[in-house]
Amino acid sequence: MSVVTTHLTEGVLIVRTDNPPVNALGQAVRAGLEAAISGAASDKNIEAIVLICSGRTFFAGADITEFGKPAQSPDLNDVCAVIEALNKPVIAAIHGTALGGGLEIALSCNYRVAVPSAKLGFPEVKLGLLPGSGGTQRLPRLIGVPEALTMIGLGEPVDARKALEIVLLDRIVGEDSLESDAVAFAREVALNKSHPVTSQLTHRTQRDDIDSNTYDQFLKSNARKLRGLEAPQACVEAVRAAVELPFPEGLRKEREQFIRLMNGPQSKALRHVFFAERTASRIEGIPDDTPTIPIEKVGVLGAGTMGGGIAMNFLTAGIPVTLIEREKASLDRGVATIRKNYEATASKGRLTTEQVERAMNLLTPSLQFDDLADCDLVIEAVFENMDLKLEVFARLDATIKQGAILASNTSYLSIDEMAGATARPEYVIGLHFFSPANVMKLLEVVRGAKTSATVLKTCMGLARMIGKVAAISGVCYGFIGNRMLSQRSQQAQALILEGAKPWDVDRVLTRFGFPMGPFQMSDLAGLDIGWNAKTSKSSTVREVLCERGRLGQKTGSGYYDYDENRKGHPSEETEAIIAELVAKSGRNQRSIGDEEIFERLLYPMVNEGAKILQEGIAQRASDIDVVWINGFGWPAYTGGPMYWADSIGLANIVRSLEANSVEVAPLLRAKSEAAESFIQK
Ligand code: 3HC
Ligand code: NAI
Repeated sequence: MSVVTTHLTEGVLIVRTDNPPVNALGQAVRAGLEAAISGAASDKNIEAIVLICSGRTFFAGADITEFGKPAQSPDLNDVCAVIEALNKPVIAAIHGTALGGGLEIALSCNYRVAVPSAKLGFPEVKLGLLPGSGGTQRLPRLIGVPEALTMIGLGEPVDARKALEIVLLDRIVGEDSLESDAVAFAREVALNKSHPVTSQLTHRTQRDDIDSNTYDQFLKSNARKLRGLEAPQACVEAVRAAVELPFPEGLRKEREQFIRLMNGPQSKALRHVFFAERTASRIEGIPDDTPTIPIEKVGVLGAGTMGGGIAMNFLTAGIPVTLIEREKASLDRGVATIRKNYEATASKGRLTTEQVERAMNLLTPSLQFDDLADCDLVIEAVFENMDLKLEVFARLDATIKQGAILASNTSYLSIDEMAGATARPEYVIGLHFFSPANVMKLLEVVRGAKTSATVLKTCMGLARMIGKVAAISGVCYGFIGNRMLSQRSQQAQALILEGAKPWDVDRVLTRFGFPMGPFQMSDLAGLDIGWNAKTSKSSTVREVLCERGRLGQKTGSGYYDYDENRKGHPSEETEAIIAELVAKSGRNQRSIGDEEIFERLLYPMVNEGAKILQEGIAQRASDIDVVWINGFGWPAYTGGPMYWADSIGLANIVRSLEANSVEVAPLLRAKSEAAESFIQK
């Protein structure tokens, strides 16, 4: 059956697209739409047209799998032109998400109606692109430059209410009566003498009405979010063209930029990330019909840094949480932090007061371990100490109902050992959140030797429900993320003893695109995590810093000295501490260039990634990319460590590792010698 079908009702032609899962605008859809619209032009029985989609959403955009391949006609621009040129009103009837090319189709229509739950947006910038089928030219003409810049340049969708407010929508219709309400709307507007044609609107894009600083101001005020990305600048230029050039010339400019970006390295990398994130949720080696466990109540043990954030994920998703601590003071502190975090979000307008209260009402704080008994899932986030974890798991096993999942948020320790403390190892799993747990997107799901397929599948589904990007890791010290981080940390420590300054190391990484370098990160987290004053022996830079009370940002000094605005400055004291340690060791320092710093920090991580892959700790190389982008701020526009390694050339990496006396992972060497890559392109 064709993906685009039509039927006539009361003089309105319904053009329905059914192309699961998300009605992407692939060639068959484009051809079907073009044929349906062209055919309607001369049919006297048709007074208006409604474009509608089946399934979960309106068109979610161009078909990304077609990108980078030879173009197949009709082009999406042609389809938009055919819609806009029709001598009868066309109405887009939107549900789900009208994204990218989908919104471009909707903008080419004369009118747009949507259900209250619909979202509309241009996410192209997140794929390293700009809207390529007239979106940058039509949107400003319809909603004005400032709103268009925000939607196109940042890529966040707007909900139906906001879309109506900015006149992107003409009407919000009933949630369950989209088709009939759209037909009624079509019959209403069919009576109008003329219909708005978006590309011909001029009232929102008069050059004299627009402050010429608007464009630079947009880039400046979003500089942090847009750092390192090429596409936002092109988005801004294209929107400016909508003001300064006639429509056909603006379209040409948009097209040029679209093709340039599409063929550039950033968009290729970001498209890899898009598919990698979706592939990461697939579990190798389990049957499709594996059942899952309903999770209706969650328990969290430990209300410290991680426990509170973990609890918030479930509360926000509407799942009740019982939060357990040993002492009242810690419990009260934990609950207060949760409330403070929610209120901070509400003060930025991202939550309503009712939503905050609804979440808080789902929270049951308690000092009674037994209150966890009827939870479907308990996640422990107590101190990182194996003896304590073993004690906790034995107690959980004895207390929590059978059939419930017992999870650990441990950063490094063995899930299998913890599972061994229970009589139900198949129900034990690692759920490793990243700090701050309510913000960071990544969830490493750690599959123990005996973890059942049902438990694993339940947790992957749960991750999706709480808005996390999940990747599966096997059991090893530090799992995927922290195991690779350890390599980087070791090199960073070695480099500052050999002669690089901490700020040189940080600068090299931030220039690459990380939000922070390792020493800035340590100062932020606190240098005293895991440090013990009684056993400290002045043997490492960190030990000496802690001994001198330089614990990081919280004490105003760590590797850096901090001013009253918490801005870090290179510290002479830190340099002196390093120099003393080096002198004691009898070694000499030398000057170390940025290139050496760069290679020594990043290549050993790739090497460790190869070991992780070879040992089967990661299911696939792209999962490693997902972990580092979502958990540690690796710049997504480079594709993640393994994709990036391919682009550097594996042979170059092997050569550098050998020169720096790092033992090369056999898989990396083998791939390099066979001229293979980690990621299949
Ligand atoms: N093209 C091809 N495949 C797509 C796709 C697209 N635009 N959007 C989603 N898919 C695929 C996914 O890869 C996934 O496949 P899988 O099941 O084999 O892994 C499947 O559809 C379902 O996707 P999700 O798991 O993401 O489903 P959700 O329900 O969670 O989310 C969504 C739905 C919000 C539509 C989300 O898929 C999404 O954000 N899609 C991308 C939207 C986008 O970026 N559109 C712009 C494309 S660029 C463009 O239009 C250029 C134009 O200007 C010329
Ligand atoms: P934390 O020290 O902030 O919190 C631990 C909490 O557990 C404390 O409030 C303590 O009172 C409580 N606790 C200890 N024993 C308990 C018991 N028997 N019953 C109830 N509560 C108990 O520690 P944090 O940082 O939250 O770490 C917790 C776990 O999460 C550790 O395993 C850690 O490795 C892991 N983790 C930490 C991350 C971080 O960035 N802090 C990141 C990811 C994982």
